[in-house]
Amino acid sequence: MSEKHDVTGASTTGHVWDEDLADFTNQPPKWWMLGLAASGIFVVIYWLYYPSIPLPSSNTHFKGVGGWTAVKEMEADKGDVDAVRGKYELKLKNMTPAAILADNDLTEYVKRSGKVLFGDNCAGCHGTNGVGAKDKEGLIAPILNDDDWLYGGKIDDIHTTITGGRQGMMPAHKDSLSAQQIDDVAKYVKAMSDQGKDKADVDSAIAAGKKVFMESDCIACHGADGKGMQAMGSANLTDKVWRFDSSLEAVKYTITYGVNSGDPKARIAIMPNFKEAGKLSDSEIKKLAVYVYKFGGGQADAAVAPAQAAATAPATVSAK
Ligand code: HEC
Ligand code: HEC
Repeated sequence: MSEKHDVTGASTTGHVWDEDLADFTNQPPKWWMLGLAASGIFVVIYWLYYPSIPLPSSNTHFKGVGGWTAVKEMEADKGDVDAVRGKYELKLKNMTPAAILADNDLTEYVKRSGKVLFGDNCAGCHGTNGVGAKDKEGLIAPILNDDDWLYGGKIDDIHTTITGGRQGMMPAHKDSLSAQQIDDVAKYVKAMSDQGKDKADVDSAIAAGKKVFMESDCIACHGADGKGMQAMGSANLTDKVWRFDSSLEAVKYTITYGVNSGDPKARIAIMPNFKEAGKLSDSEIKKLAVYVYKFGGGQADAAVAPAQAAATAPATVSAK
C-alpha cells in the first residue's frame, strides 16, 4: 500500500514510525546492486576453483578445477624457505664452528635454528636458554649461560662436549675415608668456595680438612689449587658455583658416594652423546655449539684469531 510522503513527496511503504519519519521505497544505489551481483559471481567461481562442496556419496568433497591443495601450497612455501636456507646450510657444512662464529651473518642464521634444536634436544636437562633445570636432587645438568665450565667454554670444547657427550667420574670415598675425614674435608671444600682459597688455607679451624684434601686423592683430579681440570671435568671447588648443591650435607654426599662412580647411591651426571647415537647431524651439532657459545659464557680462543680460523676451516674439518 504505497503512499506519498507528506514533506518529500517520495513513495513510502505506508508505515510511519513517527510523525514524518517513514519507510521509503527507494531502490538501493546502482553501485550497491552491482557489488551484490559481483560478489555472487565471485562465490560461484571460488567454489568451482577451490576444493569446496562436500559430496554426499563418500567421505570426500569436490576437488575444485584449480587443483589447489593446502599441502601443495605448504610445499611451495617450504621450497622458498629451503632456497634461502640452502645457501647457508651448504656454506656451514664445510666450516668449523670457530669459522662460523667469525662470520656474523652465518652466526645470526645459526642462532635462529639453534634455538629450535636446543629446545627439542637440550632444554629438558639444561633449561630454556641454558639457565638450568632442577629436579628434586638439584640441577639436572650444568647451567650453560654462565662462564663457569666443567669441560671448557671455548667453541671447540663445547663442540666436543655435544659431539661425544661427557661423563665426569669422581670415586666414592665411603671406604677410603672415615666419616670424620669426610666431614673435615667437606668443610674445607665449602670454605674454599665461601671464603676463598687463600683464607681457607690459613683457617686453623679447618686445617684437618685441608690435610685430608692434600693427602687423599682429591688433588689428583681437582688440583692442589682446587680449581679442577677441564680435561676430566672435575669441578672448580674454589668458585661459588656449585654443580650440585652448596649445603654441607650435599657436599658430604658427593664426597661419600662420588659421581658416576658405580656406587648405587652415586650422583649421576651424564651428558648424552649426540653424534654416535645419530640424534643430530654434524651441521646441527655445529649450530648448537655456536648457539650455546652465544649464551654469553663462551670463551675466546686466544690462540686462533677469527680470520685465521676462517682461513684454516676447510683444512681442519674432518671428512664427515
Ligand atoms: C639427559 C640430560 C641432558 C641432555 C638431554 C643434554 N645434556 Fe648437556 N649435560 C648434561 C649433564 C649431566 C652434563 C654434565 C656432565 C658432567 O657433569 O660430567 C652436561 C654437560 C653439558 C655441557 C658442558 C658444560 C660444562 O660446564 O662444560 C654442554 C656444553 C652441554 N651439556 C650442552 C648440551 C647440548 C647442546 C645439549 C642438546 C644437544 C645437551 N647438552 C643435552 C645433561 C644433558
Ligand atoms: C677421579 C677424579 C676425582 C677425584 C679423585 C675426586 N674428585 Fe671430586 N669431582 C670430580 C669430578 C669429575 C667432579 C664433577 C662431577 C660432574 O659434575 O660431573 C667432581 C665434583 C666434586 C664436588 C662437587 C662440586 C660441585 O660443584 O657441586 C665436590 C665437592 C668434590 N668433587 C670434592 C672432592 C673431594 C673432597 C675429593 C677428595 C676426597 C674429590 N672430590 C676427589 C673428580 C674427582
